[in-house]
Amino acid sequence: TDPNVIRNFCIIAHIDHGKSTLADRMLQLTGVVQPRDMKAQYLDRMDIERDRGITIKSQAVRMPWEYQDETYAFHMIDTPGHVDFSYEVSRSLAACEGAILLVDAAQGIEAQTLANLYLAMEHELAIIPVLNKIDLPAAMPDKYAEEIAHLIGCEPDDVLRVSGKTGEGVEALLNKLVEEVPAPVGDADAPARAMIFDSVYDTYRGVVTFVRVVDGQLSHREKIKMMSTGATHELLEIGVSQPEPESSGGLGVGEVGYLITGVKDVRQSKVGDTVTAANRPAEDIITGYQEPLPMVYSGLFPIDGSDFPVLREALEKLQLNDAALNFEPEVSAALGFGFRVGFLGLLHLEITRQRLEAEYNLDLISTAPNVIYDVVEEGGELHRVTNPSEFPDGKVNEIREPVVDSTIIVPAEFIGAVMELCQSRRGSMSGMDYLSEERVEIRYKMPLAEIVFDFFDLLKSRTKGYASFNWQGAGDQAADLVKVDILLQGDKVDAFSAITHREHAYSYGVKMASRLKELIPRQQYEVPIQAAIGSRIIARENIRAIRKDVLSKCYGGDISRKRKLLEKQKEGKKRMKMVGTVEIPQEAFIAALSSD
Ligand code: GTP
Repeated sequence: TDPNVIRNFCIIAHIDHGKSTLADRMLQLTGVVQPRDMKAQYLDRMDIERDRGITIKSQAVRMPWEYQDETYAFHMIDTPGHVDFSYEVSRSLAACEGAILLVDAAQGIEAQTLANLYLAMEHELAIIPVLNKIDLPAAMPDKYAEEIAHLIGCEPDDVLRVSGKTGEGVEALLNKLVEEVPAPVGDADAPARAMIFDSVYDTYRGVVTFVRVVDGQLSHREKIKMMSTGATHELLEIGVSQPEPESSGGLGVGEVGYLITGVKDVRQSKVGDTVTAANRPAEDIITGYQEPLPMVYSGLFPIDGSDFPVLREALEKLQLNDAALNFEPEVSAALGFGFRVGFLGLLHLEITRQRLEAEYNLDLISTAPNVIYDVVEEGGELHRVTNPSEFPDGKVNEIREPVVDSTIIVPAEFIGAVMELCQSRRGSMSGMDYLSEERVEIRYKMPLAEIVFDFFDLLKSRTKGYASFNWQGAGDQAADLVKVDILLQGDKVDAFSAITHREHAYSYGVKMASRLKELIPRQQYEVPIQAAIGSRIIARENIRAIRKDVLSKCYGGDISRKRKLLEKQKEGKKRMKMVGTVEIPQEAFIAALSSD
């Protein structure tokens, strides 16, 4: 295809602002999906089918569009809508020349959309601002057009108004894409270079890799090479999704399509990597490649120890489709055999945990998530600490922790509440802008460790649910951090150790000690619960001794009731874990480790 008639774009939108509905409408108007085949959320439905291994989702759809006697080829590229995957978003944007900024006309722009808009601007994409859902009675298009115009520096009249539901304005939007989005530019005679912006595992076909060709041409049956690793693969199939996958002879400059090479694992086909031809390789990788690096670690342990092999198998399966998921076996004195698992962020952790529980029927305990610390020991030796148990006991020179740039959008009345929360989380304000009279964008630099646990929940509750939030990694900084251990009867319980800021160490110690006092049943002797930094005790509680005689409740001769009670106690015992000399019920671990 002649690059001059190609238009590559994505849709930047907040969840529920109507991206899928608009995409469906475009498929229909361009005729790639016949009205009789049209079901609501065509592309989303394919996503579900992919999960069942039936077909693949269209990460990129090709659609023809007639405009002024010329047939154009649109490639609509899907962007993941998830804060934890900002690198993947940046790769999808890098595959486009334009972006539709889609905003619900009854809601206005949200923090995540704003963050992605800034990313799109950094990539110098043409931005097409669009207000959606103008059919809604609650729509306030004039108000939000002002807000958007102010943000991107255009006139309020330049903001298109559409309804994905009724179809109003969508044709005009398609025409606007032709006019405003630049055609791709590349060197057709140069060695082939294509950027991977997504790669998914399909049960039947193996890994399906989505690419945007920058220079040259990739052809069927050719040998290709992954530039980050040098690995070569045969191209078994190459084609475009319209939206069902259709193989073609090859892909040229500016085209967007998919490749199948028979590899079985997305880590062999990494987002951001450059594909070139093995027999005439390009010199330089397309800029912007990053290894997917976990930001947050947590221990995952099966509640039933015999599930350990199932957990391993489940993690291996998930990894086929998730290059950022990273794990290694871990043994905890308290929780037994499990895995230390690395995630891109807390949502990534939650999604993974949910999938493990729902799809593999596992009951799991996860330890408190922590970030990666760089600890420089007195001798100058550097440790990367992903687990509190690896924290050096000796003297340290410096500890560095990751920090993030965060963006919060709230109604102006909540500015005080947000500032108070961010300040209590060691944040420092880097800026504040009024988007309109009532809405502000507040920017804070904060330690990642302070937002991975419960920050978003607190933010929501302090702003009556109005706040939207987004973050991006911003390097690291030195911090005064310590490891707090929890001891039962003088023995450390590894699952409860945490690395915290020195100022928060005391409150963590007190909280855990009093929580455990509530959760651990009385034993036959007194059990001290202590929190300690090194050898210094910072908090202490006691579980008083008592002989728990379950039979004392029964008077006289009701034998069957006695037997029942004894059986119940035996049943309860099975779910106890011995930690040192103390018996702890399984539930106590789960409750003590869950956030509140
Ligand atoms: P996610 O898939 O969750 O990211 O959401 P999305 O942004 O793709 O939104 P989706 O298209 O699923 O639409 C969200 C809700 O808004 C659905 O209930 C739609 O029916 C509704 N909706 C979408 N577009 C319009 C519109 O133009 N007008 C009205 N009234 N409702 C719309």
